[in-house]
Amino acid sequence: MSIIITGASGHLGRSTAEMVLDRVPASEVVLTTRHPEELSDFAGRGAEVRRADFDRPDTLAGAFAGGERLLLISTDAVGSRVPQHRAAIEAARDAGVGHVAYTSYLNPVAENPAVVTPDHRETEEALRESGLAWIALRNAFYAEYQVPAGAQAVATGRLVHNNGDGRIAYVSREDCAAAAAAVLTGEADSDEGKAYDITGPEPLGQDDVAALLGEVSGRTVEAVAVDDEAFVEGLTAAGLPEPAARAIATYGRAIREGYLGEASGAVESLTGRPPRSLREVFEAHRGELLP
Ligand SMILES: NC(=O)c1ccc[n+]([C@@H]2O[C@H](COP(=O)([O-])OP(=O)(O)OC[C@H]3O[C@@H](n4cnc5c(N)ncnc54)[C@H](OP(=O)(O)O)[C@@H]3O)[C@@H](O)[C@H]2O)c1
Repeated sequence: MSIIITGASGHLGRSTAEMVLDRVPASEVVLTTRHPEELSDFAGRGAEVRRADFDRPDTLAGAFAGGERLLLISTDAVGSRVPQHRAAIEAARDAGVGHVAYTSYLNPVAENPAVVTPDHRETEEALRESGLAWIALRNAFYAEYQVPAGAQAVATGRLVHNNGDGRIAYVSREDCAAAAAAVLTGEADSDEGKAYDITGPEPLGQDDVAALLGEVSGRTVEAVAVDDEAFVEGLTAAGLPEPAARAIATYGRAIREGYLGEASGAVESLTGRPPRSLREVFEAHRGELLP
């Protein structure tokens, strides 16, 4: 068996590679990346490291050769990554890869206003049309990404948001990696053509997040709901370019409009252990939360 992980030098790629290497012999693991030199530690442990860049489809046939199960990690080129993902899917099909797991995002329906939705929807469509056996791991927003915003809230006492009364079950990146590793190694009983919502244990509103920040930091933190325009103004006043601020505001809108509000049991059913809570992630990053 040969397991291939794309984008293996990223945060999720590295964590998944660690977990896969804990379970299968390194000789069965292939890690692809644009930066092979960054994976010399894994190469030293016996994994094969191959150069692959989705922007250079000529690199992909060799990179994916012999792969039986492949984790396609979505790239960070939001808005322009569908051709990258299509190139990877075509190369996987041409290389005879038996199974592809793709790191998607919750509820990628046309109406979901989050800026990342169209990329994931179109990539899932490309997988559906490819003839490959595949599954989508639809990751919720990472709990770790709430730490910088949380630190700002602890420093000011105000967690400013445009999420309204919406909720989301933030998921730790370690649990996303654990779910992917379980699918890749065949430990998980996963169904082809199915999408799994990879979420934390419970949907939380921003009042809950503010309360957690207060408890973990020992400071007073209040959630302050604003509308999209005021939220964008706050971000641009803090120095963010307006297009980036508007893109970020789409996440709060998607939460507010209820597109991301469900928690699922998929992490536990795939990995055999319950997902970490946002409190656990905040506690693990307590030092970063305190000014
Ligand atoms: N759920 C969430 O809250 C959330 C938040 C942020 C991002 N994401 C998505 O989840 C993915 C993994 O998260 P992460 O934390 O590991 O992100 P990250 O550390 O920023 O990693 C970026 C990833 O994109 C890959 N990549 C970029 N350009 C590529 C190209 N031309 N060809 C092949 N791969 C390319 C990188 O691979 P190499 O550098 O190894 O080539 C790397 O795996 C992100 O890329 C993004 O799509 C999800």
